[in-house]
Amino acid sequence: MSLFDLFSFASSDLAIDLGTANTVVYVRNQGVVLAEPSVVALQVLNGVTSVLAVGSDAKLMMGRTPDHIKTVRPLRNGVISDLEVSEQMIKHFIRKAQGQRGRMRGHPEIVICVPSGSTQVERRAIRDAASNAGARKVWLIDEPMAAAIGADLPVTHPIGSMVVDIGGGTTEVGVISVGGLSMSMSVRVGGDRMDDAIASHVRRRHNLLIGESTAERIKLELGAACLGKSRTVPSAIIKGRDLAKGVPREITISQEEIVEALAEPVGQIIEVVRNALENTPPEIAADIIDGGIVMTGGGSLLANLGQLLSDETGLPVRVADNPLNCVALGAGRALEDAIYRGILHPA
Ligand SMILES: Nc1ncnc2c1ncn2[C@@H]1O[C@H](COP(=O)(O)OP(=O)(O)OP(=O)(O)O)[C@@H](O)[C@H]1O
Ligand SMILES: [Mg+2]
Repeated sequence: MSLFDLFSFASSDLAIDLGTANTVVYVRNQGVVLAEPSVVALQVLNGVTSVLAVGSDAKLMMGRTPDHIKTVRPLRNGVISDLEVSEQMIKHFIRKAQGQRGRMRGHPEIVICVPSGSTQVERRAIRDAASNAGARKVWLIDEPMAAAIGADLPVTHPIGSMVVDIGGGTTEVGVISVGGLSMSMSVRVGGDRMDDAIASHVRRRHNLLIGESTAERIKLELGAACLGKSRTVPSAIIKGRDLAKGVPREITISQEEIVEALAEPVGQIIEVVRNALENTPPEIAADIIDGGIVMTGGGSLLANLGQLLSDETGLPVRVADNPLNCVALGAGRALEDAIYRGILHPA
């Protein structure tokens, strides 16, 4: 075996955060090598369906495709909803992460993150997708646990911590101590629901129809959980189609309106954290007063969300470093470091 073979063998194991919005891949001894939208563009030619694009390229096409092409988000509802397309997507990302166009290199061990509340059927679907994509051995890890490891929380110690992972499809709250999840709660509310809330507000209030991508862009530009302290309230231009006249039109929208539109999903996120706190054992609750709440996931980047959550719970709140990659990073460490091995479940 040459030195090159040895290297490629050692580096073929992976950890994958298969998110509803983004898939992030961690390669053993390399770290996070890929983060792309969980979107696949399919085209139908002469009755045969094939994959046209995956990831960022496919996301750019969303809402802009001709009839014979459609974009799919195979994980839309927090779990695999379209197994076949998910498998294609996983295969594509694994090959890309391994830096090659052909077959998968070796038969890697793969760690995949699953939502803590997922059913046996959902877990099996994830395992099957990874096995069919060429994995030798599939391990599962609970998402809040991976998020906590990625955020450098002392998960194996007898100290309780609380992590709130706000993704595209779900918000998961996990209370972790001594290497286990002692409590977890989740709601199917995250970034997607925020986008929906913005789109329906713009439709109702301004008679303007906007696509999913536009709604998300407005959220990134202007979204906030509450208004900040500065006196000037920012605004942005939104372009869409006039519902009455059917022609393109643009309007100016203020941050105040977006905050109002986001009140419901943001309220639901705060609510699930409160519920989790009420169900946390007292010794761990005491630890959380000291350690505070740590937020991960793209949704945690919503402006002023940490502030609002802190005001509502009376606890310190911080956003983890690199919140979008935190889960994959934690799963990758669980794969690499023997002290976390007990945390992985064989699939
Ligand atoms: N700066 C930001 N402000 C608000 N939302 C953001 C920001 N950046 C990213 N997001 C949102 O975060 C979401 C994606 O987060 P993430 O990648 O953690 O989700 P995911 O892991 O794919 O989903 P899930 O964990 O629910 O399966 C998207 O809805 C995106 O719009
Ligand atoms: Mg996630």
